[in-house]
Amino acid sequence: MQIEVSGLHKSFLDGEGHQLHILRGLDFSLDTGSSASIVGASGTGKSTFLHILGTLDRGDTGNIYFEKMDLMKMKREESSSFRNRKIGFIFQFHQLLQDFNALENVMIPALILGDSHSTATERSKMLLDQVGLFDRMHHKPSQLSGGEQQRVAIARALTNAPKLLLADEPTGNLDEETSDQVMELLLKLNEENHISLVMITHNQKLAMLTNFKFRLENGVLHQE
Ligand SMILES: Nc1ncnc2c1ncn2[C@@H]1O[C@H](COP(=O)(O)OP(=O)(O)OP(=O)(O)O)[C@@H](O)[C@H]1O
Ligand SMILES: [Mg+2]
Repeated sequence: MQIEVSGLHKSFLDGEGHQLHILRGLDFSLDTGSSASIVGASGTGKSTFLHILGTLDRGDTGNIYFEKMDLMKMKREESSSFRNRKIGFIFQFHQLLQDFNALENVMIPALILGDSHSTATERSKMLLDQVGLFDRMHHKPSQLSGGEQQRVAIARALTNAPKLLLADEPTGNLDEETSDQVMELLLKLNEENHISLVMITHNQKLAMLTNFKFRLENGVLHQE
C-alpha cells in the first residue's frame, strides 16, 4: 500500500474551549495509482483529513504511512519538503496567484524546489499543453474562464511530478460540463501517469468514477 492510515484522531477547540472530536479513529489505505473519492456531510472532517494526509495539518494520534514514511513523526521542515515533492493539491477555489500568468503560476513550485528557470519553463509548458492550455499560458487568472483556471491549478499541482493528488472539491465551483472535463482530466492523469488520487466531492456522479468510494461519517470512513 502507498498510503496506510490507521486509528487517526483529530480534535479542534471551538470558540469556547470545548473539544470538537472530528476524526475518531479513521482508517484508510490506497495502492499506488488508485483513485478514491470521499463524500460526506458538511463539517464531518473531509478537508481536515485531506489536509492531514497532505501534511498541511497534524493528526493528534494514530498512524499515517506514505510509501513507508511515517508522516506523524515527520519534523516540520521534512514535511514541507515531502509535500513539495510528493503531493499535488487542488482546491475548490484554485488559489492561483493573480499577479502571475498561467505559465508563471505553474512554474513557481518548481522554482521553490530549486529547478533552473529553463527547466521549470519547459516542464510547465508541457503541463499546460497536457491540460489543453498551451495557447493561454500568458493569460493571468482573471483572463481565464473558471474551468481554465482550475486546469492551470491542476497543471500547477503536477509541476513537481507528485505521487499523490489531493483534490478538495475540485469541481465544486464549476458548471456541469466544465466539471465533467476537469474530472476527465484528473482521471486521465491518474490512469496514464499512475498518480494516486484522493478526491473530496459532493457530486455523487463524479464519486462513482473513482476506483473506491468512501463516506466520512461520525469521524470514520465507510467504504460504499
Ligand atoms: N482550525 C480549526 N479550529 C476549530 N475548528 C475547526 C478547525 N478546522 C475545522 N474545524 C471544524 O472541524 C469540522 C470539520 O471541518 P472540515 O473543514 O474538515 O469539514 P468538511 O467535511 O470539509 O466540510 P465541507 O463539506 O463543508 O467542506 C468543522 O465543524 C469545522 O468547524
Ligand atoms: Mg471541506
